[in-house]
Amino acid sequence: MHEYDSYPEPPRKRRKGRFDDEEAPRRGRQAPAGGDLSALDERDGVEPDGPPEGDRWSTWDGAQHGPEPRPGWVITEHAAVDTELGVVKTGKEADVHLLERAVPGTGRRTLMAAKRYRTAEHRMFHRDAGYLEGRRVRRSREMRAMANRTAFGRDILAGQWAGAEFAALSRLWVDGIAVPYPVQVHGTELLLEFLGSLDGTAAPRLAQLRPEEDELCDLWHQLTEALLGLARHGLTHGDLSAYNLLVHDGRLVLIDLPQVVDVIGNPQGPEFLARDVRRIGEWFLAKGLPAAAGDPESLLEDLRVEVGMPQAIPMSQQ
Ligand SMILES: Nc1ncnc2c1ncn2[C@@H]1O[C@H](COP(=O)(O)OP(=O)(O)OP(=O)(O)O)[C@@H](O)[C@H]1O
Ligand SMILES: [Mg+2]
Repeated sequence: MHEYDSYPEPPRKRRKGRFDDEEAPRRGRQAPAGGDLSALDERDGVEPDGPPEGDRWSTWDGAQHGPEPRPGWVITEHAAVDTELGVVKTGKEADVHLLERAVPGTGRRTLMAAKRYRTAEHRMFHRDAGYLEGRRVRRSREMRAMANRTAFGRDILAGQWAGAEFAALSRLWVDGIAVPYPVQVHGTELLLEFLGSLDGTAAPRLAQLRPEEDELCDLWHQLTEALLGLARHGLTHGDLSAYNLLVHDGRLVLIDLPQVVDVIGNPQGPEFLARDVRRIGEWFLAKGLPAAAGDPESLLEDLRVEVGMPQAIPMSQQ
């Protein structure tokens, strides 16, 4: 078993299906008339305010919403319900679940990837160290909590990572860069466009593929476009690898962007940029990327120009 699989799920019980002639669920717990408390025991563990089907009411209302124009498949109805369909992947810092949002009785349904950042003791955040430079939290109690890595501080960090990933995706998606549409963020949970098929099978990570030369060149070209798009915003991914790229119906999509790095603003930015390009470049070279299709070092040069890094002056001109 994966060592992180023991992360506890919040207790949740499905409400039994209700018939039309049943009494509507009461809001909150009420002591029944006559003082018979056994009726309360029977409902123990059942969400008193939960929907008649599904696992929870749609959390759309209380959440921060993704950018407009919103894709037509995004469900915004108040009556929508969310149903958990399983775990896509557990990770060190977050778990990704498959979530269905549907409007009962209408046939309207959509699949989303729910990325839930781990809070407090449930995770090991290797990313908390270098990446947070330059990100400020105003209240000093929160700054101290984060610095001391108290449980409270780690919860704030989890929320910050979700917020940071949501902000980065929103900005990039609006500019047409290949990232999943960010539907909403609510606390430590981020809901994303699910990249995969209607039966809930997620798109493969690039690392799982063994592309033929034509496809490899096409994927390299798509990667170049995506990284130039990030560089236009002065950014690099910060953790780019063949595991953080999905290939959905031939389309290369960047995922996992909470630690996106400002190349100029972050003192280590230029190193993150070089590491990103060299690491993913090695994967392409190992798979046989032909020299004519391009090479990582010249891509790195193009990206440095695009972000506006000062260029090294050639010896001949010094
Ligand atoms: N929008 C999505 N659609 C389909 N699958 C997704 C989506 N987002 C993430 N996944 C799947 O979940 C995995 C983990 O997502 P992500 O990389 O964002 O989280 P992570 O916590 O960084 O995980 P890891 O520690 O494995 O890198 C991805 O490799 C991918 O297989
Ligand atoms: Mg990842």
